Amino acid sequence: MGKIRKAVIPAAGLGSRFYPLTKAQPKEMLPILDKPVIHYVVEEAVNAGLNEILIIVGKGKESIINYFDKHELDKLDISGVSKFPEIFFVRQKEQLGLADAVRYSKAFVDDEPFLVLLGDTIYKSKNKTPVSKQLMNSFTKTDKTTIAIEEVPTEKIRDYGILSGKELPNKLFRVDDLIEKPEPKDAPSNLGITGLYALTPEIFDAIDRIKPGKNGEYQLTDALKILAKSDEVFGARFEGKRYDIGTKELWIRTFFEFVKGDSKFNHILDNL
Ligand code: UTP
Repeated sequence: MGKIRKAVIPAAGLGSRFYPLTKAQPKEMLPILDKPVIHYVVEEAVNAGLNEILIIVGKGKESIINYFDKHELDKLDISGVSKFPEIFFVRQKEQLGLADAVRYSKAFVDDEPFLVLLGDTIYKSKNKTPVSKQLMNSFTKTDKTTIAIEEVPTEKIRDYGILSGKELPNKLFRVDDLIEKPEPKDAPSNLGITGLYALTPEIFDAIDRIKPGKNGEYQLTDALKILAKSDEVFGARFEGKRYDIGTKELWIRTFFEFVKGDSKFNHILDNL
C-alpha cells in the first residue's frame, strides 16, 4: 500500500443541530476566532503534507466553495506552506450520511489510501506533529485502515462509537468490532472514534455492503465494522485535543477556548 497523499473532507451534512443558524449558512463556515472551521480543517490536512484535497459539499454549501476562491484581500495563510493546496469539490446529492458522503470520493482517491477529516472537527496537537500526521505515521506501521481514537469519560460513552479489541504496543489497538453509542455498562472499552480516519480503498466495497442505520443514514462505523471482520482495522491514540463543533454548545465552548488561548483576543474576556 502506498503513501497517503490525499485528504477527503466531508462537509455536506445538514447541520440540523444548529438550526436556525444553518438555514442559510453551513456549520463548517461558522467562525472560530477569525477563520471559519473549514479553514482549520484544510490547514490540518496541509500541515500533514497533503496537498490534494477533496471537499464534499451539498445543498446550501456554496459558500464553502467560494471561500477557497482566490480573493484580492486573500489572507488565507495556510501556515508554513508556500504552495496553496489543490482543492476539488464534489456535491453529495442527498444527505444520506457520512459513509454515503465518503462514497463520492472514490474517483478522486483512485486506488490509494487516504485521510478523512470531518468538516466540523478541529484538532490541536500537543506536540510538534499535527494530529493528522500522527495518524498517518500510525497507518504506515500496518498499511491497514486506522482510526484516530481517544479515551472517553464514562458519562460520554453513549455519544461515541466505541471499539472492542486488543491493546497493542505503539499506541495501537487492534479493532475486532465497533459498537455505536453503547450504554456505559455494555461498552467493551472506553476507547472512542474521533472523526479522523486513514482509510484504504477497501472501504468503498464495505460502504456498498451497508444498509442505512439510525435516521436512514449510511454510517461509516457500519462500513468499518464490516472491514474489521473481513480485513484488519486499527485504532491509534494521538497526542492532542479534538474540538467537535457539531452542536451549538460545542461550538460556543470551542470559540471561547480559542479566544482564551489567543494573545490577540484574550483581553476581550477580561472585560466581559
Ligand atoms: P454530522 O452527523 O456531525 O453532521 O457529520 P450533520 O449531519 O450535518 O449534523 P446534524 O446531525 O444534522 O446536526 C459529521 C461530518 O460529516 C458530514 C458533515 O458535514 C460533518 O462535517 N456529513 C454528514 C456529510 O458530508 N454528509 C452527510 O450526509 C452527513
